Parts: sequence; C-alpha cells; structure tokens
Amino acid sequence: MINLQHVSKVYRSKHGDVNAVQDVTLAIKKGEIFGIIGYSGAGKSSLIRLLNGLEKPTSGTVEVAGRTISQIKGKKLREARQEISMIFQHFNLLWSRTVRDNIAFPLEIAGVKKEKRLKRVDELIKLVGLEGKENAYPSQLSGGQKQRVGIARALANNPKVLLCDEATSALDPQTTDSILGLLSDINERLGLTIVLITHEMHVIRKICHRVAVMENGRVVEEGDVLNVFRKPKEDMTKRFVQQVTEPEETKETLKHFLEETKTGQTIQLTFVGEAAESPLITQIIRKFDVEVNILQGKISQTQDGAYGSLFIHVDGDAGEVSRVVEFIKSRQVEAEVITNV
Ligand SMILES: Nc1ncnc2c1ncn2[C@@H]1O[C@H](COP(=O)(O)OP(=O)(O)OP(=O)(O)O)[C@@H](O)[C@H]1O
Ligand SMILES: [Mg+2]
Repeated sequence: MINLQHVSKVYRSKHGDVNAVQDVTLAIKKGEIFGIIGYSGAGKSSLIRLLNGLEKPTSGTVEVAGRTISQIKGKKLREARQEISMIFQHFNLLWSRTVRDNIAFPLEIAGVKKEKRLKRVDELIKLVGLEGKENAYPSQLSGGQKQRVGIARALANNPKVLLCDEATSALDPQTTDSILGLLSDINERLGLTIVLITHEMHVIRKICHRVAVMENGRVVEEGDVLNVFRKPKEDMTKRFVQQVTEPEETKETLKHFLEETKTGQTIQLTFVGEAAESPLITQIIRKFDVEVNILQGKISQTQDGAYGSLFIHVDGDAGEVSRVVEFIKSRQVEAEVITNV
C-alpha cells in the first residue's frame, strides 16, 4: 500500500541544511497498523508529510495506494490526497462548527450532495461513538471526544490510508486507550491501512502490527512488534522497549537489590506468546536445588500475543544456578543475566 524507496528530505535554511529524513526504504502493507517511533526531532512528522504529499522528497520515491505521490502535482495530487487522511495531536477542528459540521466539512469540499452528506455524517458519528454530541461545539467536548471527531472527519471520504501524527499524545492514559481501541476497531472493520507515529512505546505495543524505529532521520530498526519487543537490536530500540517493560520503579528496585546481593544470579526472563503462560518458575523450583525469588514482573498484550518480562533471583550452588539458566533457555524463553542496571 505504501512504498518508500531511498527517501531523503533536506530542509535548506540560512543556518545550514537539516537532514530530516535520510535514505528511508520502507514497505507498508495493505490493512496493517504500522508504527513509527522516535524521539523529538527524529524526522517522524517530516516522513508523514512526505506520505501525503505535503512535502516533496529531496530524493527517492514515495508511492501510496498505487500512485507515485512524490512525482504528481496539482489536481492529480489533490485527488490522491483524498485517499490519504490524517489526524493530529491537537485535533485541528474548526471551532465555529458543530461536531456534525466538522465531520461534513471534507464531504462539502468533495462536492457530496446534502442528502448523502447527512447520511454519511450519521454513519460516521455512530462509527466513532459520538451519538448525542452531534450539535456540540469542539469547546464543549473532552479531548477524547475531539479526537473522535478528528477520526470521523478523516474517514468521511473513505480513505485508503489513515496517518496519525501523535494522535494520542495530548490525551490521558485512559482516553489514549479508548482512542487506540477505536483505531484498532476501524482497522479491522474497514481494513484501513494505518500509519501511526508516536514517541510512546505503549502505543506501539497496544495496536501496531509492525514498527520502525527512527533516529536522526534514519530507520534504524524495523520488524514485527512482538519480535522487536523480544529482541531489540539497537540501543535506541532497547530504550523504547524499556519504557514499557521496565518502568523507573523496577529499575530502582533492581539496582537496590543488585547492590545488596552478593550470591546467586539475577535473571531477566522474556516470555513471548504461549511461553508467557507456562508455569516455568514452578518447574525450576521442582527440578533444581535452588532458591527462586521473584523480584518484578509484567505481562503485556500486543496485537500478536502476550509479551512478558520477569526478573528473578536464583540462589544456590553455582553449577546448579547455571543449569537453571540453561533449562530456562531450553524452554524457549530468553534469559539474560543482569549484573547492573
Ligand atoms: N519546515 C522545516 N524547515 C526546516 N527544518 C525543519 C522543518 N520541519 C522540520 N525541520 C527539522 O527537521 C528535523 C525533523 O523534524 P520533525 O518535525 O520531522 O521531527 P519529529 O520526529 O516529528 O519530532 P517531534 O517528535 O518533536 O514532533 C528537526 O531537526 C526539525 O527541526
Ligand atoms: Mg512531529
């Protein structure tokens, strides 16, 4: 659905050139939710603007829904952009229009007749769960409701691709979850391809199928969400994964523990899929002559299955402890011995 070949974007300014996007090659499939994560300035928004033709790449080609966005102009580009919708962090609603009229706006622009327009708006209001708010103004809505209006408006002309630029960054965690739930639902029901950019790994974990990690304009790592969580390769990716699996309190507890503990091994176990449910710890206690202390643990759901991280301390005879590590690995659970945090 989306194909980027060696795409670069250089902004030229008086203060020198900014290489916002550098040699990005990516393929995003039809019907998938593809996440792009990176810290501020990584080039995420620049990349997304290249996807809807708001910016032209300095080099490389951008193809969306069968059209070479990076090469077309004028009417052709406007037509193409009807198939590529976008939602924003700050919603970008029209403040003097009601919910209904905000959602109708892109239909008016597309020249849809009034009767058809009203019908479509009603459908969209139902789809995003805004029944009863049709005549409210944006200022009378909560953040989550405003984003629902943004989503309904974005879907009005039946786009093939929905681009989300930090669409949940202005929302509290609970509202974020409900908006992510809605996006996931829309993706399944309509088979809509969604590209979502964020700096928060839990957003990726919750709804994305695949993810690309951006750093200094480059995609430094890419893969299925579950695999990236299980085996992050780049330091940047590891840092993002830790946002979800190792919150600050975990790190503090571990640090304290490692400082105080002189014997045995502290091990981080990473479970994926089925293994997340297997009674591994019980088996270790039964089979080996060791003491097992569970320090911290967390299991999270991704689109493709469960993912968990568990920190345990195994104490006993050194040989027995290393046999425990071998045993864990034989159970297809990743185990890493932790010496510091
Ligand atoms: N129109 C522009 N002109 C000049 N430089 C720009 C322009 N837009 C972005 N940049 C620069 O390009 C780089 C990438 O910016 P971009 O907005 O794409 O990052 P981002 O990953 O979206 O960051 P954030 O998370 O803060 O939104 C930054 O160094 C930024 O200052
Ligand atoms: Mg941005």
